[in-house]
Amino acid sequence: MHLLKTYKSKNERLIYSRDDKSKMPKYNANIISGNYPFDVKKEETLYVTQPSLPPLEEFIEYLADIWESKVLTNNGKYHILFEKALAEYLGVKYVSLFSNGTLALISALQVLRIAGEVITTPYSFVATTHALHWNGIQPVFCDIDPQTKNLDPDKIEKLITPKTTAILPVHVYGNPCDVDKIEKIADIYGLKVIYDAAHAFGVTVNGNSILNFGDLSILSFHATKVFNTFEGGAIICHDDKTKKRIDYLKNFGFADEVTVVAPGINAKMNEFQSALGVLQLKYIDQVIKDRQRVANIYRNKLKNIDGITCFDDLENVKHNYSYFPIFIDKEKFGKSRDEVYNLLKENHILARRYFYPLISNMPSYRAIPSAAIDNLPVANKTSDQVLCLPIYENLKEDEVQTVVDYFIKKELF
Ligand SMILES: Cc1ncc(COP(=O)(O)O)c(C=O)c1O
Repeated sequence: MHLLKTYKSKNERLIYSRDDKSKMPKYNANIISGNYPFDVKKEETLYVTQPSLPPLEEFIEYLADIWESKVLTNNGKYHILFEKALAEYLGVKYVSLFSNGTLALISALQVLRIAGEVITTPYSFVATTHALHWNGIQPVFCDIDPQTKNLDPDKIEKLITPKTTAILPVHVYGNPCDVDKIEKIADIYGLKVIYDAAHAFGVTVNGNSILNFGDLSILSFHATKVFNTFEGGAIICHDDKTKKRIDYLKNFGFADEVTVVAPGINAKMNEFQSALGVLQLKYIDQVIKDRQRVANIYRNKLKNIDGITCFDDLENVKHNYSYFPIFIDKEKFGKSRDEVYNLLKENHILARRYFYPLISNMPSYRAIPSAAIDNLPVANKTSDQVLCLPIYENLKEDEVQTVVDYFIKKELF
């Protein structure tokens, strides 16, 4: 099938058509696949997610434009366009684009000169705590709320010491933290709040972006996120002075050609990522709607199964359905989370244990006093029970049914 015509840009360089694939350099999927279990790749494999991508034909127009301009990075046209369009879409004042979410998080801590100890959640992706480590900051782990799975604000105060400078909560699965309680504590103790909002693209509370809370928030546009720019990220801030400082830091600290105001880093988003971001904004509302459809099918089918719980939508929240986590109570369901995980995997359904192991139990962090299992009972239990089921915009109802059957038909074990 001719999905793509052979394409010549205006400077006459050839872009391969799909029919010319034989001329393209060969690669070994196993080498580039990182830690994803591509060895089990089969036509019928259901992955935990699939990246949303716009029609290739549309993206090629942008590529041709970038090729011709020869501006590939360094605050080019698409970078400027995407920052503006994104701020508008998200309903925030200032966006600074980054090459990925981890560098955004590391830089956010630098921007506010955070040091000493930071109170954070162990129930997250490792990058949350790694960002503290890369800044020489001591993480102080706080347990999570059993309902939201976010940092439990009632447990923050007892962890504050004279060395505490900030709180780093995560809106896990895009579910909003209790931002009011966290702000109150931060104000009383003079702490900064940086939200790891890597999962919270487009989430609003009472119509207001969740990104408008705290001193800074960071986003991730990694391929597995609900909104992707292949890789990418952003810091959201609320005033132009902070925006300027963020932009210096992500560009080696350059304030102008001859002035370096800080030991900054190279964390700039390039023009290809930015152009994809501009194009993705056209489709994101539909992507979220389609994911909502999938989430609702799961909820309906799983609702009467003893020992299986999942999140309900909150009335005042616009959710983004970035994940579909369920929690498996072994006593009630009769099988453990790992038994279910392994059975699904054997049958080419690659559900993921987000987030297991708990960050506080990893070798790099387990010796920290606050990492003790007794201090974090809810986080440890949640990490042992969670399983994220496949969710993406074009997952079909019969595919959801295939997954759900493993929960309904006990004879499949
Ligand atoms: C909670 C959380 N924080 C930070 C990151 C890091 O983002 P990135 O992969 O864009 O570096 C991720 C995801 O990858 C994440 O899930």
